[in-house]
Amino acid sequence: MDKKNKKVYIETYGCQMNFSDSEIVASVVTSNNFTIAGSPQEADVIFLNTCSIREHAEKRVINRLRELQHLRAKKPGLLMGVLGCMAGRLKEALLEDEKLGMRIDMVVGPDAYRQLPRLLKDAETGGKAIDVILSAEETYADIGPVRYGAGGVSAFISIMRGCENFCAYCVVPFTRGKERSRNPDSVLSEARQLFDEGYREVTLLGQNVNSYRWQDEHAGSILDFSDLLEMVAGINSRLRVRFATSHPKDISDKLIHTIAKHPNICRSIHLPVQSGSTEVLKRMKRKYTRAQYLSRIQAVKKLLPDCALSTDVIAGYCGETEDEHRETRSLMKEVAFDFAYMFKYSERPGTIAAKLFDDDVPDDVKTRRLKEIIDLQQEISLLSNRRDEGSTCEVLVEGRSKRSEDKMMGRNSRNKVVVFQGKDSKPGDYVWVKITGCTSATLMGTIVDQP
Ligand code: SAH
Ligand code: SF4
Ligand code: F3S
Repeated sequence: MDKKNKKVYIETYGCQMNFSDSEIVASVVTSNNFTIAGSPQEADVIFLNTCSIREHAEKRVINRLRELQHLRAKKPGLLMGVLGCMAGRLKEALLEDEKLGMRIDMVVGPDAYRQLPRLLKDAETGGKAIDVILSAEETYADIGPVRYGAGGVSAFISIMRGCENFCAYCVVPFTRGKERSRNPDSVLSEARQLFDEGYREVTLLGQNVNSYRWQDEHAGSILDFSDLLEMVAGINSRLRVRFATSHPKDISDKLIHTIAKHPNICRSIHLPVQSGSTEVLKRMKRKYTRAQYLSRIQAVKKLLPDCALSTDVIAGYCGETEDEHRETRSLMKEVAFDFAYMFKYSERPGTIAAKLFDDDVPDDVKTRRLKEIIDLQQEISLLSNRRDEGSTCEVLVEGRSKRSEDKMMGRNSRNKVVVFQGKDSKPGDYVWVKITGCTSATLMGTIVDQP
């Protein structure tokens, strides 16, 4: 078959980093005469860019791979590849056709995407193509991502890769390797280009964006995350800048001051706490106590009173007692997060927690604790949204509302979803909206003149 006709379908699981990586994959394959397919049915190559963060995430991918196998009957020569975080972790298992009950042709880790053209050739000739080697340098700085999935308003820019924090429960340091920062010039030129193409929001991405660090070879000076953020914000005041994810240990006063100085740096900080108990945090190897976390929150609230705060919480970690669970709930109330992602602890083989501690909280208890924190957060989010009623905020329009076709949706600086009447506005516009109603997840309103 002529290579020009070959189509690659990419399906992405997991975090924003993985979505950003899929745009790198799309860029690598489309520079090599492949095109991007809109569905697995029309594809010659199916890539699943996978996540290992919880057992459930891996199971979903395995089920999806099984489900897609029937397409081989219709298309002999169809190739299936596992990319991303499961690649290195499950390489052996993924290559054992008989045990797995299906064939996977390619297994490619997150630092090996430049090798895809060669690996695709190997796989086309019938061999299995594998590269899961992690790199200490790869940042894909020179590869312009293909924004095939985006709506043309908001884009991710990956500024660093890997993680070396080794939180006890977490698989990421094993799947993504050493922490490394990307050349700031390449970050800036990517952001500038996006703005020129009409994008109005960029999200700087990394497992710990605020540990970004770049040492200039010649000048010897060191650029930290605040410096980079300031430079990106300086591109244009109409370009909104977001970032994810920050580690509480690195949220410096300098960073908070930098945000305060630039209205186009969004008033929204995602600061995963994981637990409200100092003892649990110690067992998690999170490198901060409850009091230290709360003192960083106080610093944000003082210097950025209008800043939204969101977090990640794990329920039912090894040895978590009812008292420790209660401490998590009390911290959530004290901070009053606007939003939270909450998870049941899932033991990951090979992690420090798997080696040191028993996964001893029974599943029904984990489920109950998770429900308790979800219910609590829903109440807190609703209160936070209720407080916004009657106020007016600037919204960057992203597109039509999914629920009601006659309305538009966008986000405000605090990262809240705002749904409003306003057919004349189009994606990429900034509009002012008066908030007239809400649910725990969404603000509703109408367009008004700029106050
Ligand atoms: N680098 C980010 C988080 C990346 S993983 C940070 O440190 O904040 C995203 C979230 O998944 C984590 O914040 C944590 O809440 C959750 N998570 C990670 N490992 C997990 C596990 N083994 N079980 C349940 N949740 C987990
Ligand atoms: Fe995982 Fe911790 Fe690294 Fe976040 S900081 S990716 S939770 S090891
Ligand atoms: Fe999952 Fe890997 Fe992201 S494990 S959360 S896709 S870094």
